[in-house]
Amino acid sequence: MELKDKVVIVTGGASGIGRALSRRFAAEGARAVVVADLDGDGAAAVADEIGGLAVATDVSQEASIQSLVAKTEDAHGPIDLFCSNAGIAIGGGVEATNEAWQKIWDVNLMAHVWAARAVLPGMLARGEGYLLNTASAAGLLTNIGAAPYAVTKHAAVALAEWLAITHGDAGIKVSCLCPQGVRTPMLLGGLDANDPSGNVVLAAGDMIEPEDVAEAVVQGIRTEQFLILPHPVVAEYVRRKGEDPDRWIRGMRKLQARVTGG
Ligand SMILES: NC(=O)c1ccc[n+]([C@@H]2O[C@H](COP(=O)([O-])OP(=O)(O)OC[C@H]3O[C@@H](n4cnc5c(N)ncnc54)[C@H](O)[C@@H]3O)[C@@H](O)[C@H]2O)c1
Repeated sequence: MELKDKVVIVTGGASGIGRALSRRFAAEGARAVVVADLDGDGAAAVADEIGGLAVATDVSQEASIQSLVAKTEDAHGPIDLFCSNAGIAIGGGVEATNEAWQKIWDVNLMAHVWAARAVLPGMLARGEGYLLNTASAAGLLTNIGAAPYAVTKHAAVALAEWLAITHGDAGIKVSCLCPQGVRTPMLLGGLDANDPSGNVVLAAGDMIEPEDVAEAVVQGIRTEQFLILPHPVVAEYVRRKGEDPDRWIRGMRKLQARVTGG
């Protein structure tokens, strides 16, 4: 699909990858870019810059996503591409609180369910539409030191796969974006706080810029590719994990020991 003349929503559009996507979609000639974020001022700043529409949205609330979709359709008509990109990082293991698990579950998984639930009926009726869900390489592999993040990103990948399989024949395109380290406030904030998950991402590979991710996304949407991997090496890691999971886990233990000094 080409972005020109399309109506696009980007959640998490005020910062990092979502801001880069919003800017790039506008540069590609999208008819409308709707910048949705919990940070309403940040969304407004990006929307002002690109001539888009800002909608303050909390993707952890289904009603907020429904309202985002309704406002977009009222202003611009049917949605061609919904980028469900907002996400949060929570570290720790099973000891992380139930509240923390629930919060990250709602933002990193249920937001994708609610977005699809809101736009799919219209897309299916029109026989076309595109869902782009931002997961992470952590959803294909893991994230040392951050079980809530790794688990919810795995769930996001599983949902994207299921949507692609179930609705592909009805004209619905699905892409799942799975980067490793990207230089954004999410990652840099983690690093500043000496968060082990941030250090692991750095140790695991190259940090790229949000604009590099936007380039990979535009190319991936153009070719309607399911898995968009801005770090191509991730495909090789996934292949190795699939071939020999025990060897992969041993390798991840070594990486963990190296990163945590254990
Ligand atoms: N930065 C990385 O290294 C990296 C790697 C892989 C995947 N990702 C994923 O990319 C996506 C974007 O992350 P980023 O790195 O650009 O982070 P970021 O922190 O720069 O941007 C995330 C944006 O999401 C918004 N947001 C958070 N909770 C929200 C909510 N409940 N409702 C609406 N908006 C909300 C924030 O306000 C922020 O503007 C996330 O899903 C993240 O998990 C990031």
